[in-house]
Amino acid sequence: MVCLGNICRSPLAQGILEKKVAQKGLNVEVDSAATSDYHIGHEPDSRSISKAAEYGINITRQRGRQLQNSDFQEFDRIFVMDTSNYSNTIALTKQENEIKKVEIILNLINPGSNQSVPDPYFGGEDGFENVYRLLDAACDQIIKQIQNEQS
Ligand code: 4NP
Repeated sequence: MVCLGNICRSPLAQGILEKKVAQKGLNVEVDSAATSDYHIGHEPDSRSISKAAEYGINITRQRGRQLQNSDFQEFDRIFVMDTSNYSNTIALTKQENEIKKVEIILNLINPGSNQSVPDPYFGGEDGFENVYRLLDAACDQIIKQIQNEQS
């Protein structure tokens, strides 16, 4: 899960998907990272921590890190939150098989729409509820796809 700062959207996405993976008993590693270096080593934003906690998810152990080229070998799929993240993520790789791993996460709900998970950093609390709902729906689709692949 990739966003700009790795403190608001992608930590929530990681927490939501980890919970669903555990509920389904799937063996899947989930992680998150930033395209920027702004928040390396930082805890998630307190508003993301609170939103996750509201839904029974603890993201306090996550720490910000920056996406690196080795992530394209380590992970099968890389979900980005918006088109700017997409460009910055693609810029880290040149290989076609790695580029194919990168997807704009809301395309799982509305294929081909290239919609963004709105960056809630500069907004109010409402933005975090909206982000949670969008990511929860997208993560349901990810789980369905994994289950299809494994069946
Ligand atoms: P995120 O939100 O990409 O969802 O983690 C942001 C966090 C920090 C900044 C921007 C967006 N920032 O400019 O520091």
